[in-house]
Amino acid sequence: MDKEVNQPNHIRPIFQNIPFWNPTKILDHEIGKKIHRMDLNECPYSPSPKVIEAMSGVADTLNRYPDGTCPELTPIMAERIGVPENTITWGGGSTQLLTSIAEISVAPGQNLVTPELVWKRFHGVYKIVDAEVSWVPNKADGGIDVEALTGAIGNDTRLLVCITPNNPTGMMLSEEEIRHVSENTPENVLLFMDEAYHEFAVHAGGPDALEIMRDRKGPWAITRTFSKAYAMAGVRLGYAICSSPETVDAIRMVSSTFNLNGFAEAAAVAALKDAEYTQFILDKNAEERDRIVEGLRELGYEPMKSVTNFVSCDIGRPGMEVVKAMRERGIRISTVGGDNFINYIRVSMGIPEDTDAFLRELKEVLG
Ligand SMILES: Cc1ncc(COP(=O)(O)O)c(C=O)c1O
Repeated sequence: MDKEVNQPNHIRPIFQNIPFWNPTKILDHEIGKKIHRMDLNECPYSPSPKVIEAMSGVADTLNRYPDGTCPELTPIMAERIGVPENTITWGGGSTQLLTSIAEISVAPGQNLVTPELVWKRFHGVYKIVDAEVSWVPNKADGGIDVEALTGAIGNDTRLLVCITPNNPTGMMLSEEEIRHVSENTPENVLLFMDEAYHEFAVHAGGPDALEIMRDRKGPWAITRTFSKAYAMAGVRLGYAICSSPETVDAIRMVSSTFNLNGFAEAAAVAALKDAEYTQFILDKNAEERDRIVEGLRELGYEPMKSVTNFVSCDIGRPGMEVVKAMRERGIRISTVGGDNFINYIRVSMGIPEDTDAFLRELKEVLG
């Protein structure tokens, strides 16, 4: 018998023949060179010195499993956002939690409703739960069409996915739009709001989804992260705020018992206390975003209305070609995805030197 042919049989059909894509991979031609990493919506600044100090302070406890319920961090967070402690749970990045939220609500073959233009990882999540997916086209400007989204809910729908601000557009929903989703998602459907870029939205004067969704009668969950505005992507810490302790318990069950690393809680406590540093990151990000938007306009392009740490823009030719050409020049950016947005690129904010390099090289690439 041919071993290679038989090998995939232990893998469920939906997971067969999926090549692994490693977004952090350094290509051969990049090794040892100066690379402007503007493709993963990371924070270009190191974590706060106080975070680094706090992490060093717990390094000698790493022989022990950490308490994943974060008994020191949870009360601080609960008080800050005004929710009961037993409605917060923690994950190895919000990525882990959004997968868990889909797993606890959607059985194989059941329906979920989602915008068409979402962060790429959601495609993988929908595959993992083997859902029947209703993809709802975004509006022409890239914004989420909330009326079409709630209009797509059917009798078999278990989960409605919404993201504000959305990746890859950077656009946020208005207070009215969040209210529409919250009020028009039936009580038997879990309303999930991904708010990974929450701090940036608030910094830009946008709404706080929690303030609107906490009035909702039906079930809901919101995820946020320490990866972006707190400069802690490498720590892998996110949290979910849920409408009930039962939702929290179900998420904990599927997310594994020891799902956090031993640095995460101490790092997050220190980060929350260092408001000045977070403000520095948000202010610097807004400055560079303004420069990128202005620079793109000077080149004759009109970017999407981002409030986040990345900007997407129609550059009038296949985005993938430009991504490849830029990568050859040491600038890592990404595409946007979605059939109607193939001519777009997405660039994450860096330090001023990254902005200079991006605009200089883009001008040459676009001729
Ligand atoms: C919309 C969105 N949600 C979630 C995440 C994942 O963040 P985390 O680092 O918390 O897993 C990202 C990362 O880029 C994102 O863009």
